[in-house]
Amino acid sequence: MKLIVEMAGALKGQVRVPGDKSISHRAVMFTSLADGVSRVEGFLFGADCLSTVACMRALGVPVDIEDGTVIVHGVGMHGLQEPDDVLDVGNSGTTIRLLLGLLSGQTFHSCLTGDASIRRRPMGRVAKPLLSMGARIDGRRDGDLAPLSVRGADLHSIKYQMPVASAQVKSAILLAGLFASGVTGVREPSPSRDHTERMLKALGAPISKRSGYTEIGRPARLRAMDMRIPGDLSSAAFLLVATLIVPGSELILEDVGVNPTRTGILDVLGAMGAQFEIEEGEPQAGEPTARLAARSGPLVGATVGGSLIPRLIDEIPILAVAAAAAEGTTEIRDARELRVKETDRIRTVAEELRKFGVQVAELEDGLMIEGGRVLKGAHCRSHGDHRIAMAMAVAGLVAEGETVVEGWEAADVSFPGFVDLLRELGARVRVEE
Ligand code: S3P
Repeated sequence: MKLIVEMAGALKGQVRVPGDKSISHRAVMFTSLADGVSRVEGFLFGADCLSTVACMRALGVPVDIEDGTVIVHGVGMHGLQEPDDVLDVGNSGTTIRLLLGLLSGQTFHSCLTGDASIRRRPMGRVAKPLLSMGARIDGRRDGDLAPLSVRGADLHSIKYQMPVASAQVKSAILLAGLFASGVTGVREPSPSRDHTERMLKALGAPISKRSGYTEIGRPARLRAMDMRIPGDLSSAAFLLVATLIVPGSELILEDVGVNPTRTGILDVLGAMGAQFEIEEGEPQAGEPTARLAARSGPLVGATVGGSLIPRLIDEIPILAVAAAAAEGTTEIRDARELRVKETDRIRTVAEELRKFGVQVAELEDGLMIEGGRVLKGAHCRSHGDHRIAMAMAVAGLVAEGETVVEGWEAADVSFPGFVDLLRELGARVRVEE
């Protein structure tokens, strides 16, 4: 499947982006362990989160989907059942890593695998601390690569200093901590997204956090909870950057999650001169939300690094597009983690942006982008990575002539309906087989 993008006139409108991917995964996984029924509104029906639903069903949790609401019939802390086949997480790193933590403390055996990208991504960063809690995990390359086998075990608590800021690693340890004796503690080098902590607390788990150190104990039970998931800021970022760089554009985004561990992209775009307003909304599912209003205008390059990186790690592909349209140089450092995402995003961003005539230097831990030139329409590839696909589609909106994004189907992983929304805003985009 490919996307054809033409250079756009002004984009205008008021839209809502689909639900937050990270929160959607957690909503289904965590309420599965609760006593009773939880109704989840605003769930993201993208391929990744549907993989989590399929895995929880395979673990014996009844999950119904009715009129866009996900209804989870929680089985309690000890109600999961041995799956009779391999659990397939598809493209979803969050599913495999969080499930590794959750399954380590069960009484049964399970196997986890995923697509070609997942089977290349490092799992040892999760397996290592879990093994030190007594988990029994094995897989290719000494347990670093899926397929992975998890044999349930009696876990004991650990105090763990994480070498990288990763919400998936932190969450896996906290989930294992729910089943471990004693109090499990995790210290992160800099703040990563804290949706796990917020949701487990709301469900009644004994969890506390103080200056980068989180502790969790073993709860007798978790309580069911109805919730509404806010829009995904990571998805909103594509529309936001499109609005900023396509002349004459104006956009209002309703109901976007603005958890401070995720808003690095707003900080950087603001520093680049972006014109937008943030109006605080009602909290949803324990998460702050806002209405974002943006207008196009000139951008200047920025320097991005340090503790800002975990707060915008998923937005770097689209930030690179904003940088290409900005005056001057943008330097992104300390972002080595990009190399182990759905693709090596340092390489794929550089490779694809160059096709538009943008000067990009690939650094070991980031990118250096020279902005300010007019982009030329390009023939791009998604490399099977949803965020590369959508970032290049946005670049196509400001490129002269026509842009093609091959492998467009990848976008469905996190943003079903992206093309419809772009059209609603006035862009000329179409999908071809
Ligand atoms: C996620 C954490 C981040 C992020 C990913 C989703 C999560 O990964 O890149 O898209 O939901 O916990 P890391 O934990 O590897 O940084």
